[in-house]
Amino acid sequence: MEKSLRGKSFISLMDWSAEELEKIFDLTSELKQKWAAGEQPELLKGKQVAMIFANPSTRTRTSFESGISWMGGHAQYHTPDTMQIAHKETWEDTGKVLGRYVHGIVIRMFGLERYGMAREILRVLEASSRVPVINALDDKEHPCQIMADIMTMREKFGPGYKRKKIVMSWAYSGRVKSAGVPQTMAIAAGLLGMNLVLAYPEKYDVDPEYMEFAKKHAALSGSEITVTHDIYDACKGADVIYAKSWGSFAMSKEEDKKYREQFKRDWCISRKHFDLANPNAIFMHCLPADRNQEVTDEIIDGPMSIVYDEAENRLHVQNALLASIL
Ligand code: CP
Repeated sequence: MEKSLRGKSFISLMDWSAEELEKIFDLTSELKQKWAAGEQPELLKGKQVAMIFANPSTRTRTSFESGISWMGGHAQYHTPDTMQIAHKETWEDTGKVLGRYVHGIVIRMFGLERYGMAREILRVLEASSRVPVINALDDKEHPCQIMADIMTMREKFGPGYKRKKIVMSWAYSGRVKSAGVPQTMAIAAGLLGMNLVLAYPEKYDVDPEYMEFAKKHAALSGSEITVTHDIYDACKGADVIYAKSWGSFAMSKEEDKKYREQFKRDWCISRKHFDLANPNAIFMHCLPADRNQEVTDEIIDGPMSIVYDEAENRLHVQNALLASIL
């Protein structure tokens, strides 16, 4: 008998199987059609969702709020500074109380004093609230984003997307950002059997826990996951070039800001990278993009760019997720 996803948190893709993720993709297609047809499925009727945002957001907050309302539920927006967390109430007590009022918790939290600390808080909330917790980006992963990205590749390439050459490239930015996107893409590739090239300059290795999981699962799913420090070599024959800046685990933020300056020219995705790629290659970015740092305007605004389709799919994939677990 098929196991229900009801009650399951969505904190790490490591807790999900390929079959469970495929179920979400299938439901995403169905719900996307209903959205386009102007239907309103009451899949969350009477359901309350607390959304805690410790960091800014445009896409994640809006897509969750729109989706929850569309399905007949209610989303409550909170920030830690307007909750008693500001007066040092513990996350455990916060979770115990929220669990009495809501059917699910969406939380975004990263950039705390130590890598991994935000994830620990998400796990505390999960255990204490006893309702599903959805990771809306923590210091380790951005699973909702990667689900939307993969959904978009499925739509563009069909089921053959798994055999495409997908390049997840580090990109220059003046800002030091979370490695959640490349880390989640690596484990998703391993689980689902996708071919992924992670391209980044030396010293931008992602968390080894993620590479180990990705490689272990790649051996089972038949995916190929490789790493290169040569962006031009990575782009040769690519079907997807996904740009994303992230911070180094090997140095401090200040050291990283100085060190990365040398990569400004080569690691801004531009026409010269797409000249090496396959003729119908597409450009992806999770947004917000640092224009003319991570990618040139010509590429992100060009016909190869599918960044707004990715952004739209945040809504549909999260709707499917919420409808499945709440
Ligand atoms: N991609 C993404 O998570 O966007 P926001 O930061 O605007 O939510």
